[in-house]
Amino acid sequence: MGRRLRRGALAAVLVVLAAAVVVALVERRGPEAKPLPGTPLRELASQAGLRIGTAVDDTALQREPGYREVLAQQFSSVTAENVMKWGALAAERGRYDFTAADRLVDFALGRGMRVRGHALVWWNQLPTWVRDGEWTRRTLRQEVRQHVRTTLEHFGERVPVWDAVNEPLDDRGRLRDDLLGRVLGDGWVEDVLRTARTYAPEAQLVLNETAADGLNAKSDGMYRLVRGLLARGVPLDGVGFQLHTNLDGVPAGFRRNLERFAALGLDVEVTEADVALRTPASERAERAQARVYAQAVRDCRAVPRCRGFTVWGFTDRHSWIPGTQPGFGEATLLDAELRAKPAFRAVQRALR
Ligand code: G3I
Repeated sequence: MGRRLRRGALAAVLVVLAAAVVVALVERRGPEAKPLPGTPLRELASQAGLRIGTAVDDTALQREPGYREVLAQQFSSVTAENVMKWGALAAERGRYDFTAADRLVDFALGRGMRVRGHALVWWNQLPTWVRDGEWTRRTLRQEVRQHVRTTLEHFGERVPVWDAVNEPLDDRGRLRDDLLGRVLGDGWVEDVLRTARTYAPEAQLVLNETAADGLNAKSDGMYRLVRGLLARGVPLDGVGFQLHTNLDGVPAGFRRNLERFAALGLDVEVTEADVALRTPASERAERAQARVYAQAVRDCRAVPRCRGFTVWGFTDRHSWIPGTQPGFGEATLLDAELRAKPAFRAVQRALR
């Protein structure tokens, strides 16, 4: 090959590489925010006496200006999708790293949004040193209490509401047979709540549960648990209903379920709503999805103690569904390019 030819080839390779880098950088910054139709959700929600929230992905928050813009414009509440979990805060024993969590809190407070703390104690996403440690009841209780204390003292009033106990129940509505239950015994839920009250007397303490949205064995178990806690004077202010669903719809008895917990004197809220579709989703499926979202919002609004409606991510670009439920996705209000889907407009209408 002649020298000129080699130079030409080299130049072509460099051009392709440079183009690839540019494409990667653009992709990394995510799509631009486009104007969304109608009144922002947070305004509509505020008029309806409700907070509208979303889970926030830390990588997107850091890198994607369009994501940040839509987030601040549309939502009045944020939940950290991962960065406030024990495993994220204290990957190493005895060392806390609040960098990512503080990033979210600063962002939110600077834009008049409220932060829901998620989650103080959960069997999942524990630090590996906790999950794989050798514990006695005394030593693990000590670690759990210390974690609750460190976390609450760090955030203080900046995080006024916490999913203090996350997903304590199994499908039949009994306390899960996990590390916490096995080592600490059933009293661990009470202990976490009492400890949380001690170190954050003003914070709203929530028990957040999955698949206990409708009237079913699990929500019956949760009802018994909650009633028992309240009867013993355990500090608990609210119950969170996650509402991860699909085109099966809002689970039967959802509204009545909210009502029975509210009747115990508790606030209730929807904490993690999403509606998974088979992908790629048809327009018809998107319209059906919109109806599910609208129903969920209407049910929450029909219950005076339902104070908030949080979606688990607001764009299909960042949603946990495709990673954990292969073949499903497109579960959120905006598509991956931050354009409104029918579900977005349906939530607007339901808030009006
Ligand atoms: O942090 C590691 C990273 O270091 C590693 O390179 C990467 C490779 O897979 O994994 C990263 O961890 C992932 C983590 O999210 C943070 O991105 C985990 O694999 C992944 O399993 C984890 O998933 C989260 C899931 O909770 C864990 O169970 C989802 O993003 C999050 O949406 C989901 O949220 C939960 C709520 O907290 C509680 N209710 C149910 C809800 C959905 O599962």
